Amino acid sequence: MTSLLAYCRSGYEADTAKELADLTAQHNVFGYPLFKPNQGFVEFPLYEPPSEAIKAKQFELKKTVFPRQLSWVFAQLSELESSDRISPILEAVAAQAVKFGAVWVEYPDTDDGKELAKFCRKFAVPLRQALRKQDYLSKKEALKQPVLHVFFTAFTTCKLAISYPQTRSPFELGVCRLKFPASAPSRSTLKLEEAILTMLDERERQYVFRPGARAVDLGACPGGWTYQLVTREMYVEAVDNGAIDEALMATGQVAHFAEDGFTYKPQQQKVDLLVCDMIEQPDRVAKLMGDWLVTDRALHAIFNLKLPMKQRYETVSMALLSLKARLAKLNDSFSMTARHLYHDRDEVTVTVIRQSQYF
Ligand SMILES: C[S@@+](CC[C@H](N)C(=O)[O-])C[C@H]1O[C@@H](n2cnc3c(N)ncnc32)[C@H](O)[C@@H]1O
Repeated sequence: MTSLLAYCRSGYEADTAKELADLTAQHNVFGYPLFKPNQGFVEFPLYEPPSEAIKAKQFELKKTVFPRQLSWVFAQLSELESSDRISPILEAVAAQAVKFGAVWVEYPDTDDGKELAKFCRKFAVPLRQALRKQDYLSKKEALKQPVLHVFFTAFTTCKLAISYPQTRSPFELGVCRLKFPASAPSRSTLKLEEAILTMLDERERQYVFRPGARAVDLGACPGGWTYQLVTREMYVEAVDNGAIDEALMATGQVAHFAEDGFTYKPQQQKVDLLVCDMIEQPDRVAKLMGDWLVTDRALHAIFNLKLPMKQRYETVSMALLSLKARLAKLNDSFSMTARHLYHDRDEVTVTVIRQSQYF
Protein backbone atom coordinates (compact mmCIF):
# COMPACT_ATOMS: atom_id res chain seq x y z
CA MET A 1 0.00 0.00 0.00
CA THR A 2 1.41 3.44 -0.93
CA SER A 3 1.62 5.96 1.85
CA LEU A 4 2.46 9.60 2.14
CA LEU A 5 5.35 10.22 4.54
CA ALA A 6 5.78 13.55 6.31
CA TYR A 7 8.74 14.46 8.52
CA CYS A 8 7.89 17.00 11.21
CA ARG A 9 9.22 18.52 14.40
CA SER A 10 9.00 16.08 17.30
CA GLY A 11 5.76 16.76 19.20
CA TYR A 12 3.89 17.97 16.10
CA GLU A 13 2.75 14.57 14.85
CA ALA A 14 -0.95 15.06 15.69
CA ASP A 15 -1.04 18.44 13.91
CA THR A 16 0.77 16.98 10.91
CA ALA A 17 -1.66 14.04 10.83
CA LYS A 18 -4.68 16.37 10.76
CA GLU A 19 -3.09 18.38 8.00
CA LEU A 20 -2.36 15.27 5.92
CA ALA A 21 -5.98 14.18 6.31
CA ASP A 22 -7.14 17.54 4.92
CA LEU A 23 -4.51 17.59 2.19
CA THR A 24 -5.30 14.12 0.88
CA ALA A 25 -9.06 14.77 1.03
CA GLN A 26 -8.56 17.92 -1.08
CA HIS A 27 -7.07 15.67 -3.76
CA ASN A 28 -9.83 13.09 -3.41
CA VAL A 29 -7.59 10.40 -1.98
CA PHE A 30 -8.23 8.91 1.42
CA GLY A 31 -6.30 7.11 4.10
CA TYR A 32 -5.46 7.24 7.78
CA PRO A 33 -2.54 8.53 9.86
CA LEU A 34 -0.06 6.29 11.64
CA PHE A 35 2.19 7.85 14.26
CA LYS A 36 3.47 7.69 17.80
CA PRO A 37 3.92 10.88 19.84
CA ASN A 38 7.34 12.53 19.50
CA GLN A 39 8.59 10.22 16.75
CA GLY A 40 9.21 13.12 14.33
CA PHE A 41 7.20 11.78 11.38
CA VAL A 42 3.73 10.69 10.30
CA GLU A 43 2.90 8.03 7.76
CA PHE A 44 -0.42 8.22 5.95
CA PRO A 45 -1.36 5.02 4.08
CA LEU A 46 -3.77 5.63 1.21
CA TYR A 47 -6.51 3.23 0.11
CA GLU A 48 -6.05 4.23 -3.54
CA PRO A 49 -2.92 6.24 -4.30
CA PRO A 50 -3.06 9.13 -6.76
CA SER A 51 -1.41 8.88 -10.18
CA GLU A 52 2.34 9.56 -10.53
CA ALA A 53 1.55 12.87 -12.26
CA ILE A 54 -0.57 14.04 -9.33
CA LYS A 55 2.00 12.89 -6.78
CA ALA A 56 4.73 14.70 -8.68
CA LYS A 57 2.93 18.00 -9.13
CA GLN A 58 0.10 18.53 -6.70
CA PHE A 59 1.30 17.67 -3.21
CA GLU A 60 3.48 20.73 -2.82
CA LEU A 61 5.34 20.92 0.46
CA LYS A 62 5.34 24.74 0.20
CA LYS A 63 1.56 24.75 0.54
CA THR A 64 1.63 22.79 3.79
CA VAL A 65 2.35 24.08 7.30
CA PHE A 66 3.72 21.31 9.51
CA PRO A 67 5.43 18.76 7.22
CA ARG A 68 9.16 19.37 6.70
CA GLN A 69 9.31 16.93 3.83
CA LEU A 70 6.75 14.97 1.82
CA SER A 71 7.57 11.72 0.04
CA TRP A 72 5.77 8.58 -1.12
CA VAL A 73 6.67 5.30 0.55
CA PHE A 74 6.95 2.33 -1.84
CA ALA A 75 8.61 -0.24 0.43
CA GLN A 76 9.09 -0.98 4.12
CA LEU A 77 12.10 -3.11 4.99
CA SER A 78 12.56 -4.69 8.40
CA GLU A 79 14.91 -7.21 10.01
CA LEU A 80 17.75 -5.90 7.85
CA GLU A 81 20.97 -7.80 8.44
CA SER A 82 23.89 -5.62 9.47
CA SER A 83 26.09 -7.64 7.09
CA ASP A 84 23.99 -6.71 4.01
CA ARG A 85 21.41 -3.97 4.16
CA ILE A 86 22.06 -3.03 0.54
CA SER A 87 20.68 -6.07 -1.35
CA PRO A 88 17.07 -5.75 -0.07
CA ILE A 89 17.14 -2.02 -0.87
CA LEU A 90 18.37 -2.70 -4.43
CA GLU A 91 15.67 -5.32 -4.90
CA ALA A 92 12.90 -2.94 -3.83
CA VAL A 93 14.30 -0.09 -5.94
CA ALA A 94 14.54 -2.33 -9.02
CA ALA A 95 10.77 -2.85 -8.92
CA GLN A 96 10.21 0.91 -9.24
CA ALA A 97 11.87 1.30 -12.65
CA VAL A 98 12.81 4.92 -11.83
CA LYS A 99 16.19 6.55 -12.32
CA PHE A 100 16.82 8.64 -9.24
CA GLY A 101 18.82 11.88 -9.23
CA ALA A 102 19.98 11.49 -5.62
CA VAL A 103 19.69 9.23 -2.61
CA TRP A 104 19.18 10.73 0.84
CA VAL A 105 19.72 8.38 3.79
CA GLU A 106 17.64 9.96 6.53
CA TYR A 107 16.42 9.49 10.10
CA PRO A 108 13.84 11.16 12.38
CA ASP A 109 14.87 14.50 13.91
CA THR A 110 14.53 13.19 17.47
CA ASP A 111 16.95 12.17 20.22
CA ASP A 112 16.55 8.51 19.21
CA GLY A 113 16.96 9.45 15.57
CA LYS A 114 20.22 11.25 16.25
CA GLU A 115 21.76 7.91 17.26
CA LEU A 116 21.18 6.82 13.65
CA ALA A 117 22.74 9.93 12.13
CA LYS A 118 26.35 8.73 12.01
CA PHE A 119 25.37 5.34 10.63
CA CYS A 120 23.17 6.99 7.94
CA ARG A 121 26.01 9.27 6.80
CA LYS A 122 28.40 6.31 6.48
CA PHE A 123 25.86 3.98 4.88
CA ALA A 124 25.03 6.52 2.17
CA VAL A 125 28.46 6.02 0.54
CA PRO A 126 28.32 2.28 -0.35
CA LEU A 127 24.58 2.52 -1.05
CA ARG A 128 25.16 5.28 -3.59
CA GLN A 129 27.86 3.23 -5.30
CA ALA A 130 25.64 0.14 -5.44
CA LEU A 131 22.70 2.11 -6.87
CA ARG A 132 24.95 3.69 -9.51
CA LYS A 133 26.38 0.32 -10.49
CA GLN A 134 22.84 -0.91 -11.25
CA ASP A 135 22.08 2.38 -13.07
CA TYR A 136 19.27 3.21 -10.61
CA LEU A 137 20.98 6.48 -9.68
CA SER A 138 22.39 9.20 -11.95
CA LYS A 139 26.19 9.47 -12.07
CA LYS A 140 26.08 13.04 -10.77
CA GLU A 141 23.55 14.41 -8.30
CA ALA A 142 20.55 15.68 -10.35
CA LEU A 143 17.95 17.31 -8.14
CA LYS A 144 15.64 17.88 -11.11
CA GLN A 145 14.96 14.14 -10.98
CA PRO A 146 13.16 12.15 -8.26
CA VAL A 147 15.06 11.61 -5.01
CA LEU A 148 15.21 8.24 -3.27
CA HIS A 149 14.69 8.59 0.49
CA VAL A 150 16.00 5.75 2.63
CA PHE A 151 14.45 6.62 5.97
CA PHE A 152 15.86 4.58 8.85
CA THR A 153 13.68 4.37 11.97
CA ALA A 154 16.04 1.80 13.56
CA PHE A 155 19.29 0.13 12.52
CA THR A 156 17.29 -2.80 11.12
CA THR A 157 14.26 -0.98 9.70
CA CYS A 158 13.82 1.55 6.92
CA LYS A 159 11.19 2.96 4.62
CA LEU A 160 11.97 3.59 0.96
CA ALA A 161 10.24 6.62 -0.50
CA ILE A 162 10.31 8.81 -3.58
CA SER A 163 9.97 12.60 -3.77
CA TYR A 164 9.62 14.87 -6.78
CA PRO A 165 11.46 18.11 -7.60
CA GLN A 166 8.39 20.34 -7.91
CA THR A 167 6.89 19.33 -4.58
CA ARG A 168 9.67 18.48 -2.14
CA SER A 169 11.96 20.41 0.18
CA PRO A 170 15.40 20.78 -1.42
CA PHE A 171 17.04 19.91 1.91
CA GLU A 172 17.93 16.50 3.36
CA LEU A 173 15.61 15.70 6.32
CA GLY A 174 13.66 18.77 5.14
CA VAL A 175 15.96 20.84 7.34
CA CYS A 176 17.36 24.17 6.17
CA ARG A 177 20.50 24.66 8.28
CA LEU A 178 21.75 28.21 8.55
CA LYS A 179 24.85 29.67 10.13
CA PHE A 180 24.11 32.14 12.91
CA PRO A 181 25.53 35.50 11.80
CA ALA A 182 28.02 36.58 14.50
CA SER A 183 26.80 40.18 14.54
CA ALA A 184 23.07 39.41 14.71
CA PRO A 185 21.53 40.41 18.04
CA SER A 186 19.35 37.30 18.54
CA ARG A 187 18.88 33.74 17.28
CA SER A 188 15.40 34.76 16.10
CA THR A 189 17.17 36.25 13.09
CA LEU A 190 17.37 32.73 11.63
CA LYS A 191 13.58 32.43 11.53
CA LEU A 192 13.25 35.38 9.19
CA GLU A 193 16.29 34.34 7.15
CA GLU A 194 14.86 30.86 6.65
CA ALA A 195 11.49 32.36 5.66
CA ILE A 196 13.13 34.67 3.10
CA LEU A 197 15.21 31.84 1.62
CA THR A 198 12.60 29.09 1.55
CA MET A 199 9.13 30.65 1.45
CA LEU A 200 9.53 33.28 -1.27
CA ASP A 201 10.42 32.65 -4.89
CA GLU A 202 13.36 34.47 -6.46
CA ARG A 203 11.16 37.13 -8.04
CA GLU A 204 9.42 37.89 -4.72
CA ARG A 205 12.74 37.95 -2.85
CA GLN A 206 14.24 40.43 -5.30
CA TYR A 207 11.21 42.66 -5.25
CA VAL A 208 10.31 42.71 -1.55
CA PHE A 209 13.85 42.89 -0.19
CA ARG A 210 15.24 45.54 -2.49
CA PRO A 211 17.72 48.13 -1.26
CA GLY A 212 16.04 51.32 -0.07
CA ALA A 213 12.67 49.67 0.64
CA ARG A 214 10.90 50.66 3.87
CA ALA A 215 9.80 48.22 6.57
CA VAL A 216 8.13 48.23 9.97
CA ASP A 217 9.20 45.56 12.51
CA LEU A 218 6.61 45.09 15.29
CA GLY A 219 8.06 43.45 18.42
CA ALA A 220 11.54 44.14 17.06
CA CYS A 221 13.83 43.89 20.10
CA PRO A 222 16.62 43.02 20.43
CA GLY A 223 16.67 43.24 16.63
CA GLY A 224 17.23 39.85 14.97
CA TRP A 225 14.57 40.44 12.32
CA THR A 226 15.57 44.08 11.85
CA TYR A 227 19.12 42.77 11.28
CA GLN A 228 17.91 40.74 8.27
CA LEU A 229 16.24 43.82 6.79
CA VAL A 230 19.21 46.09 7.45
CA THR A 231 21.67 43.66 5.84
CA ARG A 232 19.43 43.81 2.75
CA GLU A 233 19.84 47.61 2.76
CA MET A 234 16.29 48.38 3.86
CA TYR A 235 15.12 51.16 6.21
CA VAL A 236 13.34 49.94 9.32
CA GLU A 237 10.98 51.40 11.92
CA ALA A 238 11.62 49.07 14.87
CA VAL A 239 8.67 49.10 17.29
CA ASP A 240 9.13 47.65 20.79
CA ASN A 241 9.39 48.84 24.40
CA GLY A 242 12.57 46.82 24.84
CA ALA A 243 16.17 47.75 24.06
CA ILE A 244 17.40 47.54 20.49
CA ASP A 245 20.90 46.49 19.49
CA GLU A 246 23.21 49.51 19.35
CA ALA A 247 25.13 48.33 16.30
CA LEU A 248 21.86 48.24 14.35
CA MET A 249 21.03 51.81 15.42
CA ALA A 250 24.53 52.89 14.34
CA THR A 251 23.81 51.82 10.75
CA GLY A 252 21.53 54.84 10.40
CA GLN A 253 18.94 52.56 8.75
CA VAL A 254 16.88 51.98 11.90
CA ALA A 255 14.52 54.26 13.83
CA HIS A 256 13.40 52.84 17.19
CA PHE A 257 9.88 53.57 18.52
CA ALA A 258 9.11 52.44 22.09
CA GLU A 259 5.39 52.03 21.34
CA ASP A 260 2.64 49.44 21.35
CA GLY A 261 2.72 47.43 18.14
CA PHE A 262 -1.07 47.21 18.09
CA THR A 263 -1.56 50.98 17.82
CA TYR A 264 1.62 52.05 16.00
CA LYS A 265 1.15 53.91 12.70
CA PRO A 266 3.99 54.13 10.13
CA GLN A 267 5.94 57.39 9.86
CA GLN A 268 4.98 57.79 6.22
CA GLN A 269 1.63 56.69 4.88
CA LYS A 270 2.75 53.23 3.79
CA VAL A 271 5.66 50.81 3.94
CA ASP A 272 6.78 48.09 1.59
CA LEU A 273 6.97 45.38 4.21
CA LEU A 274 5.48 44.76 7.64
CA VAL A 275 7.15 42.12 9.82
CA CYS A 276 5.92 41.06 13.23
CA ASP A 277 7.30 38.67 15.86
CA MET A 278 5.24 39.84 18.89
CA ILE A 279 4.31 37.12 21.37
CA GLU A 280 0.54 37.51 21.20
CA GLN A 281 -2.65 35.57 20.47
CA PRO A 282 -2.49 34.30 16.86
CA ASP A 283 -5.94 35.63 15.97
CA ARG A 284 -4.99 39.11 17.26
CA VAL A 285 -1.79 39.12 15.22
CA ALA A 286 -3.56 37.86 12.08
CA LYS A 287 -6.18 40.60 12.49
CA LEU A 288 -3.50 43.26 12.92
CA MET A 289 -1.69 42.07 9.78
CA GLY A 290 -4.98 42.17 7.88
CA ASP A 291 -5.61 45.75 9.09
CA TRP A 292 -2.28 46.92 7.65
CA LEU A 293 -2.70 45.05 4.34
CA VAL A 294 -6.34 45.98 3.78
CA THR A 295 -5.73 49.68 4.41
CA ASP A 296 -2.59 49.64 2.22
CA ARG A 297 -0.34 50.63 5.12
CA ALA A 298 1.85 47.70 4.06
CA LEU A 299 2.26 46.09 0.65
CA HIS A 300 3.50 42.77 2.03
CA ALA A 301 3.72 41.10 5.45
CA ILE A 302 5.82 38.40 7.09
CA PHE A 303 4.86 37.40 10.63
CA ASN A 304 4.94 34.68 13.21
CA LEU A 305 1.88 33.16 14.84
CA LYS A 306 2.71 31.82 18.30
CA LEU A 307 0.94 28.49 18.79
CA PRO A 308 -1.10 27.32 21.76
CA MET A 309 -0.34 23.97 23.45
CA LYS A 310 -3.34 22.25 21.89
CA GLN A 311 -5.37 22.49 18.67
CA ARG A 312 -2.43 24.06 16.88
CA TYR A 313 -3.45 23.04 13.36
CA GLU A 314 -6.98 24.34 13.96
CA THR A 315 -5.66 27.61 15.43
CA VAL A 316 -3.41 28.30 12.43
CA SER A 317 -6.12 27.31 9.95
CA MET A 318 -8.69 29.62 11.57
CA ALA A 319 -6.32 32.59 11.73
CA LEU A 320 -5.30 32.19 8.08
CA LEU A 321 -8.83 31.60 6.89
CA SER A 322 -10.08 34.87 8.36
CA LEU A 323 -7.09 36.76 6.95
CA LYS A 324 -7.63 35.20 3.51
CA ALA A 325 -11.32 36.14 3.59
CA ARG A 326 -10.44 39.79 4.25
CA LEU A 327 -7.77 39.89 1.53
CA ALA A 328 -10.09 38.21 -0.98
CA LYS A 329 -12.31 41.32 -0.95
CA LEU A 330 -9.48 43.49 -2.32
CA ASN A 331 -8.59 44.09 -5.98
CA ASP A 332 -5.04 42.85 -5.41
CA SER A 333 -4.16 39.19 -5.24
CA PHE A 334 -1.85 37.79 -2.58
CA SER A 335 0.25 34.68 -2.26
CA MET A 336 0.06 33.41 1.29
CA THR A 337 2.19 30.62 2.73
CA ALA A 338 2.50 29.41 6.30
CA ARG A 339 5.28 27.08 7.38
CA HIS A 340 6.53 25.58 10.61
CA LEU A 341 10.17 26.36 9.86
CA TYR A 342 13.16 24.49 11.22
CA HIS A 343 14.19 27.58 13.21
CA ASP A 344 10.67 28.20 14.52
CA ARG A 345 9.79 26.88 17.97
CA ASP A 346 6.12 26.77 18.99
CA GLU A 347 5.14 29.14 16.22
CA VAL A 348 4.64 29.22 12.47
CA THR A 349 5.86 31.80 9.99
CA VAL A 350 3.45 33.34 7.49
CA THR A 351 4.35 35.26 4.33
CA VAL A 352 1.76 37.36 2.52
CA ILE A 353 3.09 38.79 -0.73
CA ARG A 354 0.94 41.13 -2.84
CA GLN A 355 1.11 39.96 -6.46
CA SER A 356 -0.86 41.96 -8.99
CA GLN A 357 0.69 45.10 -10.55
CA TYR A 358 3.88 44.83 -8.44
CA PHE A 359 5.70 42.24 -10.53
C1 LIG B 1 10.19 37.10 20.29
S1 LIG B 1 10.61 38.71 20.73
C2 LIG B 1 11.09 39.39 19.21
C3 LIG B 1 12.45 39.01 18.78
C4 LIG B 1 12.90 39.77 17.56
N1 LIG B 1 12.08 39.42 16.38
C5 LIG B 1 14.34 39.48 17.23
O1 LIG B 1 14.58 38.86 16.20
O2 LIG B 1 15.21 39.89 18.00
C6 LIG B 1 9.06 39.46 21.00
C7 LIG B 1 9.13 40.94 21.24
O3 LIG B 1 7.82 41.46 21.11
C8 LIG B 1 7.71 42.57 21.97
N2 LIG B 1 6.29 42.85 22.16
C9 LIG B 1 5.35 42.07 22.73
N3 LIG B 1 4.15 42.69 22.72
C10 LIG B 1 4.36 43.89 22.10
C11 LIG B 1 3.53 44.98 21.78
N4 LIG B 1 2.22 44.96 22.06
N5 LIG B 1 4.07 46.03 21.15
C12 LIG B 1 5.37 46.07 20.82
N6 LIG B 1 6.22 45.05 21.12
C13 LIG B 1 5.72 43.98 21.75
C14 LIG B 1 8.47 42.14 23.22
O4 LIG B 1 8.90 43.29 23.94
C15 LIG B 1 9.63 41.34 22.64
O5 LIG B 1 10.80 42.13 22.51
